[in-house]
Amino acid sequence: NEIKIFSPATVANVACGFDVLGFCLDSVGDEMIIRKVDKKGIHITHVEGFDLPLEASLNVAGVSALAMYETIDVDFGFEIEIYKNIKPGSGIGSSAASAVGSVFGMNELIGRPFNKTQLTEFAIKGEALASKCEHADNLAPALFGGFTLVKSVSPVQILEIPSPDDLYATIIHPQIEIKTSESRAILPKEVALSDAITQWANVGSLVHALHTSNYNLIKDSLHDVIVEPHRSKLIPHFNEVKTEVLEAGALGCGISGSGPSIFTLNKGLETANKVKETMENVYAKTDIAFEVHVSKIN
Ligand code: HSE
Repeated sequence: NEIKIFSPATVANVACGFDVLGFCLDSVGDEMIIRKVDKKGIHITHVEGFDLPLEASLNVAGVSALAMYETIDVDFGFEIEIYKNIKPGSGIGSSAASAVGSVFGMNELIGRPFNKTQLTEFAIKGEALASKCEHADNLAPALFGGFTLVKSVSPVQILEIPSPDDLYATIIHPQIEIKTSESRAILPKEVALSDAITQWANVGSLVHALHTSNYNLIKDSLHDVIVEPHRSKLIPHFNEVKTEVLEAGALGCGISGSGPSIFTLNKGLETANKVKETMENVYAKTDIAFEVHVSKIN
């Protein structure tokens, strides 16, 4: 009647794939305990790590749980305990981990009536509370694992993309907070056709490169000419980090989700660790605290 789950952090956008591409980081995530209880409804009984509302309708995990709960006809309720490790506003899918964790756990406790696509539909409601917009590029990799592409959000259609065996991500989280809703608000509403052409060519070639384990093509495709020029201004030392990690051998570097975290993709653990050191050295020279993670992409 109770389940303890790990809900992973994720990197959305992956440079060229704004709102569609994402991958899962299995080394960082939140823990949640979901419990069936007699009292009907959704009850968030405990939140640890960061200060988040207990009221279900104001809590991301609660909103997605309520979306699922309203569709099932049961005479019991659920209690949710949230142990957050992923800092809200860090750019590695904090709200998505919460939104996904509650519905994943509830689904397990009631015999898995819903598939992952349906769970994404419930979780989108929670994600929208945090980012003021229905996007699924963090939710999908948190639920499906590995690399995913959100083909559409209405209806939800998720494609699972394979990745090469030796692909590692390095992520640095400079400890400043950027709200997704705010870093979406600064984006232009229109883009130049020439930029759009570059961007969709890169998305297509990145997906092809992942399917064919072509590291050189991954490297050639990890560029973002549409979003990064605007958002990088919000992240201190972004350009310096990018220049240095590319020199250190990273395949590519970009903003993780809506920032401030910065990600790289790397061939091999050795390069990923070298890139980690390079990132640390840049921020060690500043007064900004940071955390760095290396994760294999499965
Ligand atoms: N695709 C979303 C954005 C992800 O960049 O706004 C937010 O984590």
